[in-house]
Amino acid sequence: MSHEVVEKNIGLMIVLIILVISVAGLVQIVPLFYLNSTTQPLEGMQPRSALELEGRDVYTREGCYTCHSQMIRPFRAETERYGHYSVAGEFVWDHPFQWGSKRTGPDLARVGGRYSDDWHRLHLIDPRAVVPESNMPAYAFLERKEINADLTPRKMRAQQRLGVPYTDEQIAAAADEVRGKTEMDAMIAYLQGLGTDLAHWR
Ligand code: HEC
Repeated sequence: MSHEVVEKNIGLMIVLIILVISVAGLVQIVPLFYLNSTTQPLEGMQPRSALELEGRDVYTREGCYTCHSQMIRPFRAETERYGHYSVAGEFVWDHPFQWGSKRTGPDLARVGGRYSDDWHRLHLIDPRAVVPESNMPAYAFLERKEINADLTPRKMRAQQRLGVPYTDEQIAAAADEVRGKTEMDAMIAYLQGLGTDLAHWR
């Protein structure tokens, strides 16, 4: 009984378990690095604008991802509520991705275009002014902080090194694009761009 040998020898069992998990893991994970559907951006996708990129930085700094996911799973209950499920190509330029794992608030993967800029502004200043039962913190201070335009081109350059196809012209124009804008403007621009790359879903 060869199986009995394994069952009675815990050391051998551990080695074999590690072997099985490693091989199975590799078989699942390695192809993801080579498939076009997981490594290529969606057709016609554009990198975020300078202002959106700044908004994204505020999003991560403020930890919005601790209450909001950006990942719609392919289940009926999710797609009915949030829209088309998320696909890998939408995230290839997200460094780091903002999928999150906690939903105290709704998923934001396709919130772009769902509300007006004014709604977002009001909601971020005082969530309870528009959703009385909301327990989201207020972010009114974003209105009072200006973007540091000198850093924007450097942030874009860093993204470029990671494979985001910003052109040198876009990077040269970035500082002027965000100068005088507040963190609130940037956050709203970022939110309004979320999930809009998958054009055929609407
Ligand atoms: C403590 C948890 C929490 C944090 C942190 C948080 N939110 Fe929320 N958020 C919520 C909840 C709960 C709702 C649902 C009620 C509402 O609309 O206010 C919500 C709703 C939203 C909505 C509306 C989504 C929709 O589809 O109706 C947006 C947009 C949003 N949050 C953006 C943000 C941003 C941007 C940040 C970071 C600056 C943030 N949230 C931080 C809990 C949170």
